[in-house]
Amino acid sequence: MLCGLPGVGKTTLARQLAPLINGVVLSTDKIRKELFHKPKYRHQEKKLVYNVLILLAKYLYIAGINCILDATFLKQKSRQQVRNKLGKNTKQIYIIECVCPEDIVMARLKSRKLDYSDADFSVYRKMKAMYEPVNEKHITIDTSRFSGVQMKELALKLLDRN
Ligand SMILES: Nc1ncnc2c1ncn2[C@@H]1O[C@H](COP(=O)(O)OP(=O)(O)OP(=O)(O)O)[C@@H](O)[C@H]1O
Ligand SMILES: [Mg+2]
Repeated sequence: MLCGLPGVGKTTLARQLAPLINGVVLSTDKIRKELFHKPKYRHQEKKLVYNVLILLAKYLYIAGINCILDATFLKQKSRQQVRNKLGKNTKQIYIIECVCPEDIVMARLKSRKLDYSDADFSVYRKMKAMYEPVNEKHITIDTSRFSGVQMKELALKLLDRN
């Protein structure tokens, strides 16, 4: 489970990590765009998108396929819900919190080209005010200084638990 504010680099990390763990990236931004032509980011819409994400993860997990869940997971409750709905305990899911210095996020979001995510820096600020810190055991990755070697080490760590 990848979590973190917009622009911190979750999707980029997910795409790089996926081939190393033979995994599938499930992204709320992609699911949202598949389900809604013009997303409104309202409560019911968000709920449906997260439920579809969890449902897909559930089926893939049963099929023995590693999944990377790529979403902001702003609230403690949203992270907890994934575990509850998947019927997994804390040891069966890795939580990876992506972080990045704010000035770099700002530069990244300004130069971001067409993407499944609609978030800009104003969305980043809004979400920052709502973000609940990850209290449970997790790995923190600063994407502004995360090397290829560290990525391979992370992949080995994740695979070790399977
Ligand atoms: N490690 C990195 N080095 C350089 N640029 C990066 C890095 N990670 C991400 N970026 C760039 O920053 C922008 C935002 O990254 P990305 O889309 O991965 O963030 P995100 O956390 O998935 O954001 P969102 O929550 O809006 O989906 C993209 O244009 C991406 O190419
Ligand atoms: Mg993303």
